Amino acid sequence: MNRREFLSLGALALAPHAFSAPRIQKLRIAATRQPLVGAGNPDTAVWAYNGAVPGPELRFKQGERLRVEVENALGAGTTVHWHGVRLPNAMDGVPNLTQAPIAPNGGKFVYEFDLPDAGTFWYHPHLGSPEQVARGLYGALIVEERNPPAMDRDVAWVLSDWRLDREARLVESFGNPMDASHAGRIGNTVTVNGAIRDTFAVRAGERIRLRLINASNARIYAPIFEGHSPRILALDGQPVANLNQRVVLGPGMRADLALDCTGAPGSRHRVIDDFYAQRAYEVLKLEYSADKPIRAAFEPLPQLAPNPLAAPDLAKAERHRIAFGGGMMGALPSQREHQGLFWTVNGRPISEHEHQGEPILSLRRGQSYRVELVNDTAWHHPIHLHGHVFRVLTADHWADSVLLDPRSRAEIAFVADNAGDWMLHCHVLEHQASGMMAVVRVS
Ligand code: C2O
Ligand code: CU
Repeated sequence: MNRREFLSLGALALAPHAFSAPRIQKLRIAATRQPLVGAGNPDTAVWAYNGAVPGPELRFKQGERLRVEVENALGAGTTVHWHGVRLPNAMDGVPNLTQAPIAPNGGKFVYEFDLPDAGTFWYHPHLGSPEQVARGLYGALIVEERNPPAMDRDVAWVLSDWRLDREARLVESFGNPMDASHAGRIGNTVTVNGAIRDTFAVRAGERIRLRLINASNARIYAPIFEGHSPRILALDGQPVANLNQRVVLGPGMRADLALDCTGAPGSRHRVIDDFYAQRAYEVLKLEYSADKPIRAAFEPLPQLAPNPLAAPDLAKAERHRIAFGGGMMGALPSQREHQGLFWTVNGRPISEHEHQGEPILSLRRGQSYRVELVNDTAWHHPIHLHGHVFRVLTADHWADSVLLDPRSRAEIAFVADNAGDWMLHCHVLEHQASGMMAVVRVS
């Protein structure tokens, strides 16, 4: 058996039909400079995949096999995590848990796995994340449906924010205690696909599939499209029933929207984000060309086909409860004992890559679970589980992350069908690195 056959067999549990040859991509990770602010401002020193932030948009078809050959030219170790993808544990990109870090100054690693689910996913480091993601390491991973719905355009907006000084330099106070113990590193400059944008060009009558990806360390987005009513096709890559409710994206989360361009030729419409009530800002404007509408009326929206997810058996599900605590204005663990650790999972803080402790949950493969997630803090926490997609019972859709409002709870349910040690953590990266993460073992 050659290596490729061996790897294919290893992935049998997730995609029994997938024996296709992998499609190969290369990612080279290095420092570079990029004009984030534009308009005569200096370029910003960033870290990037293949020389640009965001990294290349990787597009595959559902059922294809991905092979990404990574070379790390940074002076720091790194890994690549494939957020939201159900893949074999060894490909999950968690340092010292599923792989050794990719060594600095030329280290290499090959990620290769099947893509069982269609949807909008993304990739980012899982080592020193508060710094590495803030410096620009992230990119979209888009897995197209076997029969994608008819759209005039399919566009990803990778949303991120930066903390810049007046010379457009990154403020390098990554993971400082003030950010870590409060809302995380929220920046002062929001970019769409790696630059501040004034406008996004559209044409009247267009139907656009807009894939929003929140790649920020800590910022939550709740965009409003003035004069438009986009419908939600998918959350975290998983189809939902065409919701027209407002989209709220915590860090790490994605939403696929169907944006029908119902505005008049030549008109402009603001996209506003007012998640933080006192700090609403304009993301950009939809700018209509003068061209006449490409259609007079819109067809009803198609539904996306569901992904092959195992439905949890709620009657037989074993129940668990996980409580998240800490932060300023909460019951802090003793600061002297836990230096730099501000957050707890079931009362215990776990530092960024200390996985020696017992898993917070030990699950049996094939069994259904219902887990209540309780936020005992005054802060928002987007809680993300690796290797699985769960049903959010309190909102009735599939997802890989759930945004917990302050002092709130959510209930998730899933079949533990992917063996390995998987991270469960807050995707506010400063919270993750200061105690708010744990390991879930499936065996
Ligand atoms: Cu987006 Cu643990 O990851
Ligand atoms: Cu958090």
